[in-house]
Amino acid sequence: MFEQYPPAPGTEINAENVNLDPLAGKTVAIVGYGTMGRAHALNLVRSGCLVVVGSRNGSKSGLRAVQEGFAVLPVAGAVAQAEVVMLMLPDEAMAAVYQADVEPHLRPEAALGFAHGFAIAFDQIHPAVGRRCFLAAPKGQGDMLLQAHAGGGGVPGLLAVTEDSPAETWDLAAAYAKAVGCLTGGGFVTTFRTECISDQFGEQVVLCGGVIELLKSAFDIMVDAGYGEENAYFECVHELKLITDLLHRHGVDGMRRMISGTASYGGLTRGPRIIDDGVRDRMKDILQELEDGTFARELLARHGETAALAAEEAAGPLATTGHLMLPRLHPEAEKN
Ligand SMILES: NC(=O)c1ccc[n+]([C@@H]2O[C@H](COP(=O)([O-])OP(=O)(O)OC[C@H]3O[C@@H](n4cnc5c(N)ncnc54)[C@H](OP(=O)(O)O)[C@@H]3O)[C@@H](O)[C@H]2O)c1
Repeated sequence: MFEQYPPAPGTEINAENVNLDPLAGKTVAIVGYGTMGRAHALNLVRSGCLVVVGSRNGSKSGLRAVQEGFAVLPVAGAVAQAEVVMLMLPDEAMAAVYQADVEPHLRPEAALGFAHGFAIAFDQIHPAVGRRCFLAAPKGQGDMLLQAHAGGGGVPGLLAVTEDSPAETWDLAAAYAKAVGCLTGGGFVTTFRTECISDQFGEQVVLCGGVIELLKSAFDIMVDAGYGEENAYFECVHELKLITDLLHRHGVDGMRRMISGTASYGGLTRGPRIIDDGVRDRMKDILQELEDGTFARELLARHGETAALAAEEAAGPLATTGHLMLPRLHPEAEKN
């Protein structure tokens, strides 16, 4: 499927040139039926693949997999049946589950797959030399991947294969990515490390960190200055979707052409006052912490604090205003 093995980083994979033969007649074990595992499992079935789900005792998501028609087994049992084992676990749980329930039960010919590069890039898992090991990382959230694939599409994706893997692992990686719907709009060759660091940088600096703190700060400043909470919510949160939809579809220059002249002038002149060299220096610090492993060590040691941090945010003014506004803004969603 590739002109050369291994393909160079940045090589584009055209879904039309990828066939699903490497998966034909093979059983795929999806270990973990959370957001991403569920999307992979359902999309694989839609693509005609054989899927078994691996789950721990008493698992809520395992019960959901049963209800959705899958054969669900303890992790060790699912692994023992499979020619492709996908580890769809929280990144911090990978090492322990792999050591206890995956590695001892892997068939000699079984391949290991991931949806994110962390476990391999930051030494959580060391597959045996020669074991086929690949990454098929959808560039989208799990439910979005599921929805897009159900509609006949998918999302873009990044693919990688470990250096110790045989060359044909690339064909399996491409087939798998096509089957789960992560070659739509672009599939590109990368490494586990590059995917991991770039993914986490985007999450922390833009998507789940920087943008959210920007919204919270702007909301607080408007409310403290006496503007109504509803007003602040519309301007600082609700309208973000309108702008990101334009950006997503038309690019930054297209978005500027489609908003008002006032919005465009104000944004172009005030934006750089918000994102100044101090912000850029802190972005570089965050990239450095990802590259030197500081963040990886911190995540493994402190991931247990996430729920308390999220609860604190959920009790804050932006979230509580959201709880009041959302039923009005999305009445249909509230009924479902
Ligand atoms: N979420 C996304 O949109 C997204 C996007 C890109 C990449 N990814 C990657 O996809 C992978 C899975 O992430 P996720 O967000 O789907 O995770 P998640 O929603 O938190 O689901 C994790 C799954 O793992 C199971 N699990 C947790 N600990 C376990 C254990 N000790 N033994 C057996 N099963 C266990 C959970 O089952 P229980 O019900 O029993 O807790 C659940 O089914 C990660 O590598 C992540 O980086 C996710």
